[in-house]
Amino acid sequence: SCISSDPRGGSIISFTSSPFSKPLTTLEFLHADTNMKVLAILYDGKEAALQEPRLLGTTENKLGIADWLQKEGHEFIGDGLDTTLCVQHSIYIGRQVSSSKEGPDSDFQKHIVDAEVLITTPFHPGYLTKELIEKAKNLKLCITAGVGSDHIDLNAAVDHKIQVLEVSGSNVVSVAEHVVMSILLQVLVRNFMPAHEMIERGDWQVSDIARNAFDLEGKVVGTIGAGRIGYRVLQRLVPFDCKSLLYYDYAPLPAAAAQSVGAVRVEDLKEMVSQCDVVTVNCPLHEGTRGLVNDELLKHFKKGAWLVNTARGAICDKDAVARALKSGHLSGYSGDVWNVQPAPKDHVWRTMKNPLGGGNGMVPHYSGTTLDAQARYAAGAKSILENYLIGKAQEPANIIVGLGKYESKAYGQR
Ligand code: NAI
Repeated sequence: SCISSDPRGGSIISFTSSPFSKPLTTLEFLHADTNMKVLAILYDGKEAALQEPRLLGTTENKLGIADWLQKEGHEFIGDGLDTTLCVQHSIYIGRQVSSSKEGPDSDFQKHIVDAEVLITTPFHPGYLTKELIEKAKNLKLCITAGVGSDHIDLNAAVDHKIQVLEVSGSNVVSVAEHVVMSILLQVLVRNFMPAHEMIERGDWQVSDIARNAFDLEGKVVGTIGAGRIGYRVLQRLVPFDCKSLLYYDYAPLPAAAAQSVGAVRVEDLKEMVSQCDVVTVNCPLHEGTRGLVNDELLKHFKKGAWLVNTARGAICDKDAVARALKSGHLSGYSGDVWNVQPAPKDHVWRTMKNPLGGGNGMVPHYSGTTLDAQARYAAGAKSILENYLIGKAQEPANIIVGLGKYESKAYGQR
């Protein structure tokens, strides 16, 4: 197996190896019932998914899981090494792998009432609210194919003893690369988007672009959250010779990890943002981070700072950000996550601009769903399901909510 190090001493497993070669823990899991219903809410990949089978996170390609179950002839055989367990199960390929997720008539709300396992992705989130959890009498396991399970009411999952697992580490490099791209080239410091649009229009006026283009060297960059992604962003910024790299996180980095990137912890968030030229958001969405970047916090940002948020849209107040960009208090806002997904056509973040007509680096939610990432999170989701089916303990790092309690420390201080 291939394991890369993590700043907090954990490990990130790449999914090239057999899921059964991992060490097991003593956590106990319920054995899956026979004839269980697995409900997967994915997005429709349409033409692209038919042409590109590596688009695994789509209703068409079903994370590769449907094929796998079919291949097993609805009779699942364990790893063949130490267990050979046959579980009869039916997966409802087609109807129950669906993108229809909003409203009482959606497939999601119709089928959640008797599903035992729910598979979702953050890219097309099936919002599992407290009300839906109360109706989901059979639900035992939620698998997030990806990272970030805030679309599930985690407190209600704790109360109802529904486990929530995600494929930790599966797309953290993909996101960290997107963050650095956003900071550096694509949009913000270098004012790239207006420069390219000028070229497409047939115009040429260097001064209109250069008046708002800067080097990253010598700037101060700070991350809100220094976990797997936040730390990787800092690692990737080291060669750019920033003036300083700061982080705000209630969990301090181990000294050696902080030292190796030269990261300085700032214990007060207002204090940190007031020093930063660029702020990047890399913490999960939970009660303590919803609306964290609001009018009040933005007042403490340096005038003309850049903000990159690939964590979750709702961590930033939509209208406060739009106002700050429009006034020029922020020079740019970039990210791929939205408070509602898919974002409505008239969402202000689609078109907001700074006073010079630039500074908008918004894209659809895709930074963590590169084809490389999809291979990893599809394999990870399958491995979680497989473990569940044969009653094998799960990777501890993947467990957000265990039986009746939070296992992850990343979703707020408790
Ligand atoms: P992680 O669990 O490794 O790190 C999260 C860090 O945030 C932890 O160190 C935690 O202590 C810190 N944190 C939590 N609450 C905080 C607060 N109030 N203030 C400051 N720090 C706080 O998670 P990872 O893998 O780094 O992912 C972070 C988030 O990024 C995910 O939860 C998800 O929402 C988002 N994400 C987005 C993707 C995309 O495609 N745009 C893909 C993957 C993740």
